[in-house]
Amino acid sequence: MSGASGTPYAAAVLRALLAAGESVDLVVSRASRLTILDETGIAFRDAHWQEDLRQWLGRGADGKPGTFEVPVDDVRYWAAGDLAAGPSSGSYATKGMLIVPASTACVAGVALGLSKDLLQRSASVTLKEGRRLVVCVRETPLNGQTLKHMVTLDEAGAIVLPASPAFYAGATHIQDLVDFVAGRTLDAAGVPHRLYRRWEGELGSGSAPRGD
Ligand SMILES: Cc1cc2nc3c(=O)[nH]c(=O)nc-3n(C[C@H](O)[C@H](O)[C@H](O)COP(=O)(O)O)c2cc1C
Repeated sequence: MSGASGTPYAAAVLRALLAAGESVDLVVSRASRLTILDETGIAFRDAHWQEDLRQWLGRGADGKPGTFEVPVDDVRYWAAGDLAAGPSSGSYATKGMLIVPASTACVAGVALGLSKDLLQRSASVTLKEGRRLVVCVRETPLNGQTLKHMVTLDEAGAIVLPASPAFYAGATHIQDLVDFVAGRTLDAAGVPHRLYRRWEGELGSGSAPRGD
């Protein structure tokens, strides 16, 4: 997670990855802690990440305590300043990396190969190892620099996936829009999920009641 707005996207992706039985290496940038604090009220800290993650992901879409039991044993948390952490090396086995949400600063850093923290270093490693990197950019409007950085990432093999919800999947709540972006992110990573209703070639189906 980098420091763009979009904590709900990250929460939906994390819940779905864990529900799909994936183990997750989690890196939260320094700036991301500010967005988590701003958007959830949780002061996320390295020292008590398990408690913070349980509190955050365990909430329902309405922000109240929910029913999701967070399998913290399936999460390996790495401090963003720890450049000796596992994911900083290509020899550390991962299937790929999702940056959700991605700030424009993060997009720039990864495009330029800055590796200023573990998040950016892990993304560079993911690219150099030829693994899947999905970058869920959250900013609007976009300036020319960011657009160029996004082209650079695309050329380097990353999937640039703007946090851009669609309305054809029958969204009636904000969480449906969040789940659409999270679901498209998981699609790009090849992780199965049931987060949104897929387009099936029938105009008007977006206004029909959801069947699931
Ligand atoms: C509350 C808050 C919301 C922010 N939202 C965005 C955003 O949506 N997109 C963005 O590119 N930067 C956003 N920023 C700015 C980034 O946090 C800032 O550029 C930071 O340097 C990113 O660092 P990182 O990529 O290492 O996480 C936001 C900052 C704060 C404090």
